[in-house]
Amino acid sequence: MEDNKLRSRGWFGKSGKDGFIYRAWMKNQGYPADVFEGRPIIGICNTFSELTPCNGHFRELAEAVKRGVWEAGGFPLEFPVMSLGETLIKPTAMLYRNLASMDVEESIRANPIDGVVLLCGCDKTTPSLVMGAASVNIPTIVVSGGPMLTGRYRGKTIGTSDVWRFSEMHRKGEISQEELTTAEACMCRSNGHCAVMGTASTMACMVESLGLTLPENAAIPAADSRRKVQAHLTGRRIVEMVKEDLRMSQILTKEAFENAIMLNAAIGGSTNFVIHLLAIAGRIGVDLSLDHFNDLCSKVPLLLNLQPSGGYFMEDFYYAGGLPVVIKEMIGMLHDNVITANGKTMAENCASAECFDTDVIGTLQDPVKTLTGLAVVRGNLAENGAVIKPSASLKPELMQHRGKAVVFEDIDDYKARLDDPDLDVDENSILVLKNVGPKGYPGMPEVGNMSLPKKLLAQGVIDMIRISDGRMSGTGFGTVVLHVSPEAAVGGNLALVQDGDFIELDVENRRLHLEVSDEELSRRRSFWQPLDMGYNRGYVNLHINHVTQAHEGADLDFLRGGSGDKVTRDSH
Ligand code: FES
Repeated sequence: MEDNKLRSRGWFGKSGKDGFIYRAWMKNQGYPADVFEGRPIIGICNTFSELTPCNGHFRELAEAVKRGVWEAGGFPLEFPVMSLGETLIKPTAMLYRNLASMDVEESIRANPIDGVVLLCGCDKTTPSLVMGAASVNIPTIVVSGGPMLTGRYRGKTIGTSDVWRFSEMHRKGEISQEELTTAEACMCRSNGHCAVMGTASTMACMVESLGLTLPENAAIPAADSRRKVQAHLTGRRIVEMVKEDLRMSQILTKEAFENAIMLNAAIGGSTNFVIHLLAIAGRIGVDLSLDHFNDLCSKVPLLLNLQPSGGYFMEDFYYAGGLPVVIKEMIGMLHDNVITANGKTMAENCASAECFDTDVIGTLQDPVKTLTGLAVVRGNLAENGAVIKPSASLKPELMQHRGKAVVFEDIDDYKARLDDPDLDVDENSILVLKNVGPKGYPGMPEVGNMSLPKKLLAQGVIDMIRISDGRMSGTGFGTVVLHVSPEAAVGGNLALVQDGDFIELDVENRRLHLEVSDEELSRRRSFWQPLDMGYNRGYVNLHINHVTQAHEGADLDFLRGGSGDKVTRDSH
């Protein structure tokens, strides 16, 4: 692109009063006049926040990006956007993903930005930034913050998935509070996001699989100096992308989404991947449905031996060769000629990849598990689909199971009764949790991997089927059916399940069936009342009135698609 065609010339290329205003106030930051003379302006969209500890090192990362941008002849300008820290935000960061995406979209469009680097880390910071940027569609590239170093506790490696194990051990009285407190510091011992294949790592792999990053982005640990090198090189590359006018929509093609789906199955990525990918596809105008996930995942075995589906951590993944190794192994199944952010095809990017540890990264001939990473089940209990991660099950025999429902009407009911010694439950029961969906909670929290009742833990039970309209942390595990759509709060059949009803789960045949007749369901429906949500103002009210169902990505209905990069009114 010629310099005088740059979008930012609509600001800095002007003369007279307007140009004076646009440039003069920028000069108070100490920029010389020549930086306004046709250099591509690169926005660095930063989710740094001390309230988002996974992104706490992003100021340094942004500096590395800036070095690359200056070096390539661009003019970097960093700006903050709403940052969603998974661990602190209540009731759930997912409630604000779409809000943050609006911040990103409007910030990019409203400012003199020719290309943008998205700094993403903790779970929701990746999809919110990618969704927002997709609705503007200027040249865009992502740098992930990178995972933490592997935790070490009493000689053992630990990561976020161990939180669930520690918690169950504590509930059983096997470890003390003091030991738990020690483990906290041992687990989070460096900068970065969760070190397992949780949602943050899944999102980092997703953006690399989609072609939105330089190769190797996903796995480099935050504390490794090569993470900064990655950021530096990304800064250089975005300037070229602006010159080539390589926009997001040229990278985010249908084929790129299909690649991401297959690769996510191979790495055992989080179930949250489904919701976020559907939402991103909706923004960029790619027609994607749950059926694509089922069709594309069914032949993909698990290739990556990372927690929670396996035993290793992201650090090990990087040392074993990282995502390019998995891509190379899968290349015959993928669309190998899609263009990625560095201007090369996916096949070109992984051509020299080499696996340095076959215990960490398996092959199609010798996979880590033959169970696929993700499956979509349907039936009268989930007419629009539900999601399960078979590779995270601790009892694969539960993949085909019929059991009696033990129903919790909402999260409070679950908390109040789960450990009741009189709860009528055994290991063959199926735990059902209602009203934790996009609208019902609201915000679809990660509570789907319900704890097991204390009395069953004491008997040594390690896994049961759990079904809900909520989500599960990507670090969680177990035989957990999630994202049931339609959710209970909009009157899906999930709302009508009662204690003692039989439910059949048959993952191989992709079936989730409530053994209750249509007549009886109609009878129950006649008594069903929508919840009084109790919200009548502000963003939460907007969310409740506009959020779509899980199978559509739980985006706000009016945010689907994009408005491009044109500023609608120019008051100056
Ligand atoms: Fe931020 Fe896990 S809490 S990635």
